[in-house]
Amino acid sequence: MSTGVVDAVLPSAELHLHLEGTLEPSTIFELAERNRVRLPYADVDELAARYDFADLQSFLDLYYANMATLRTAQDFADMTDAYLARAAVAGVVHAEVFVDPQAHTARGVALEEVLDGVGSALAAAPSVYGITTGLIPCVLRDRSAADAMTMLDGVLRSGVPVLGLGLDSAEVGNPPSVFRDVFDRAGAEGLHRVAHAGEEGPPAYVWEALDLLGAERIDHGVRSLEDDELVARLVRQRTPLTVCPLSNVRLRVIDDLADHPLPEMIRRGLVVTVNSDDPAYFGGYLDDNMTALRAACDIDDAAAELLARNSVEASFLDGDRKRELL
Ligand code: ADE
Ligand code: ZN
Repeated sequence: MSTGVVDAVLPSAELHLHLEGTLEPSTIFELAERNRVRLPYADVDELAARYDFADLQSFLDLYYANMATLRTAQDFADMTDAYLARAAVAGVVHAEVFVDPQAHTARGVALEEVLDGVGSALAAAPSVYGITTGLIPCVLRDRSAADAMTMLDGVLRSGVPVLGLGLDSAEVGNPPSVFRDVFDRAGAEGLHRVAHAGEEGPPAYVWEALDLLGAERIDHGVRSLEDDELVARLVRQRTPLTVCPLSNVRLRVIDDLADHPLPEMIRRGLVVTVNSDDPAYFGGYLDDNMTALRAACDIDDAAAELLARNSVEASFLDGDRKRELL
């Protein structure tokens, strides 16, 4: 439990953040007006009333639907800039952020609009917000491996700096193994590799992400605790898990924040970090996640400092910048 003395923001890296999940309801309405997109909700309140999710898929349905308001590079740049401004307030000094290119190209938005817009805002972040950044496009695992390879090709050809490749969207029934060739290609091109696994899916998907995709970090990974051998491996290799407490509650992965396994994950020696996932949908940004977690769970000041240090260690920053931040 927090002592209440230090709920101050600690300089942290945010490593699990979907840019499209930062679209606030008011922004969705502004973009809809800008781009003359008709929304199936009368107003912000009616939209916000739909943020009561039964599971990951029910969230994804709304998340993808709201992306219809994003059309131009300027829209993507504005969305990214708004996140960075809010992240700076949350104490984020480095952000490795996800984007879902296939969700945009599938509805007729050119890949360049996505990458140029996001890329320009990220490039300005060090001077504007004092935040260093990296971009991680994600493979949508509920689409084909061929579609994923086309996306990766386009990203590599774009010339926009990219830090790594991720894997997200509907997990159950879409195992990492399907995307082995795509992640092999990403590795051969020198990209880092991360994957959502063990959010709703079983520990077997975490094993696959490690063994078949070469994942260097596991996004979520909370279900790893069901497999002692897997926990031992993650601890031994110091493979970071990017945990998202408010997301887990809102998507009913965990019933109650007070029962969140993060304190147990720390006790078992896992390298865990706290992140906000889709903050506009799940009730808050990185600082909100930390505040809620500390109010509900046994996270003292030393554990909060460990989480902040883990986030820097788990980042793909080079050694010099890491040492500067640690
Ligand atoms: N895409 C955006 N948020 C996600 C999540 N929590 N899990 C899987 N895919 C996602
Ligand atoms: Zn996520």
